Amino acid sequence: MSDRLVGRVALVTGASVGVGAALVKRFAQLGLKVVGCARNIDTIKTLGDELQKSKASGSVHAIKCDVTQEEEILSMFKEIKEKYGGVDVCVNNAGLLHAATILDGKTEAWKNMFDVNVLGLSICTREAVKSMRERNVDDGHIIHINSTLGHMVPDYSTAHVYSASKYAVTALTEGLRQELREIKSHIRVTSISPGIIKTEFVYRAFGQDVGQATFDTMPYLQADDIVDAVVYVLQAPPHVQVHDILIHPIEKV
Ligand SMILES: NC(=O)c1ccc[n+]([C@@H]2O[C@H](COP(=O)([O-])OP(=O)(O)OC[C@H]3O[C@@H](n4cnc5c(N)ncnc54)[C@H](OP(=O)(O)O)[C@@H]3O)[C@@H](O)[C@H]2O)c1
Repeated sequence: MSDRLVGRVALVTGASVGVGAALVKRFAQLGLKVVGCARNIDTIKTLGDELQKSKASGSVHAIKCDVTQEEEILSMFKEIKEKYGGVDVCVNNAGLLHAATILDGKTEAWKNMFDVNVLGLSICTREAVKSMRERNVDDGHIIHINSTLGHMVPDYSTAHVYSASKYAVTALTEGLRQELREIKSHIRVTSISPGIIKTEFVYRAFGQDVGQATFDTMPYLQADDIVDAVVYVLQAPPHVQVHDILIHPIEKV
């Protein structure tokens, strides 16, 4: 990890399992002060304890935060400010898919996807950039964990509304880039857009049996493949703005 990043404060949302947990681990090994948030923080605390024992050079701090609740996000940023001064890197990773079509999906399922995948991400982004600017941090980084479905509408109907929420992330990435340019900031924004990853995501969305059948029959990525991409964009020299990285498993049809 470049010296520029050692000791910096990184917030990872959705850090209890999957890509988020893998990010927390790698960041702490690379010397960052990591704040991991989720609704269930037991696994983040355990990971932090393990990393401390393994003498990782960074640290892990867990904060319970449901990103659908704005007041919980604001209180998390307050806690980070008091403990560490503020956020230098914000990885908006929390995300979920409810299998819900446009024709007969439940409104609550649609709302929850937009609350987590779009509004939670937007509030965290706003608060993170605010935190960077009030400390004159001009080399901060906002990273959105998007999806290939933020760039193409799939031909499986239960993912159409999820796909719409990820298209919003694509627009928010370019929109933020433009707004940062307008204020002459060098804070960077990157979207990482993966195909299917073997995490809890598919099991949570479609149930255990479909999840098992999916991973038995389809090529897939590992969480660490996404972590590698995040580390690459963070380490890119300050004048390099990596806008989006699309990642598919190699044998995908
Ligand atoms: N897995 C895939 O196939 C795939 C493909 C493309 C893109 N992605 C994207 O990659 C990102 C990470 O997904 P993953 O595969 O790691 O999924 P995962 O294993 O299901 O983990 C999702 C994480 O999001 C957190 N989360 C969900 N709702 C939350 C809420 N209301 N508040 C705070 N945290 C919340 C969960 O924590 P708690 O439940 O403890 O709150 C969990 O830590 C997501 O944005 C997803 O859309 C995934």
